[in-house]
Amino acid sequence: MTQKYISLKDHDTPIKVLFTGYLCSVAVGYFFALVQILFTHGMADGQFGLSIDDIVYSYYGNRSGTVLEKKLNGSMKQNASEKERFEIMQWVRDGADIKTYQSTGVKKIIDERCVMCHNKEAGTIPDFSDVEILKTVTTEDEGATFASLTRVSHIHLFGISFIFMFIGIIFSFAQSPTVQYKCIAIGMPYAFLLVDILSWWLTKIHPMFAVLVILAGMGMGVSFMFMWVISILEMWFYPQVFIDKTSGQPRKQLSTVVMETLEPFGFDKNASLLKNMSWAIGEIIGFSREKWQTVLLPFLKDKLDKKS
Ligand code: HEC
Repeated sequence: MTQKYISLKDHDTPIKVLFTGYLCSVAVGYFFALVQILFTHGMADGQFGLSIDDIVYSYYGNRSGTVLEKKLNGSMKQNASEKERFEIMQWVRDGADIKTYQSTGVKKIIDERCVMCHNKEAGTIPDFSDVEILKTVTTEDEGATFASLTRVSHIHLFGISFIFMFIGIIFSFAQSPTVQYKCIAIGMPYAFLLVDILSWWLTKIHPMFAVLVILAGMGMGVSFMFMWVISILEMWFYPQVFIDKTSGQPRKQLSTVVMETLEPFGFDKNASLLKNMSWAIGEIIGFSREKWQTVLLPFLKDKLDKKS
């Protein structure tokens, strides 16, 4: 097969240095982006680490409670006892009425437990010595606003498509994957980027789409890593990684290795990837249909029979 491009390993060293410099900076940038996600979204449910709840709270909001309740169950939990927190929440659920603020004893709790930090001198955190300010955190948390989503969406679309533009160009000179695999790796981030942005908006409307946010993020990460690793290896470690030492011949292409591993399961290594995928999907549907008829349906029937 004749190549219409210069492969990565045959590029001049200055170009390789340029490509490597870019790839390394972007990788460090990616790392910081992940750290930032951990800090902004990761803490949304009051626990460190990213979970589905974090995504739901960030975009859809926590409609089961107010900011005050969320904080009292989250990062402010240590600042008051179980009983005190319960009394504050009770007052909030009853409408956070300023008239009953003192008589219910909530004022005393806030003054004793919270105002030492939440006072006039505190700066960025709200001053709870003023009940009017306390009232602002007793309204329901509706997550990201449409205005903020619009802003972040367009920044992300422009910025990230640029990053993947350059990574894609560098990776397009790779010679170890087949053309088909290269097309998938280069196109995937864009598909996932669109799904990612769309899923923020969908999650804002309904929390069930939060899984989509995570899946799209992972998809982007996987394609990023794949292109990054292959590009670096081909530029600097081609003989060590892609040439078989004993025979001196190029090793098998990755796609061939994948297909050979899948062959025992019924994949056809000579057919196209698309054909194999549609075959696999067909198999999965057939399998599920069979299980539905032989296992699940009788089980449900049995349950229903027992009930009646
Ligand atoms: C040791 C100092 C300290 C104490 C005591 C404290 N807080 Fe906080 N509070 C903070 C800090 C710092 C933040 C900002 C960081 C965060 O959100 O976790 C904050 C944030 C909050 C927020 C979120 C404000 C916003 O606009 O997002 C609420 C609500 C809150 N605290 C409620 C309380 C309540 C109620 C108490 C008393 C039971 C309390 N805090 C006691 C330091 C404190």
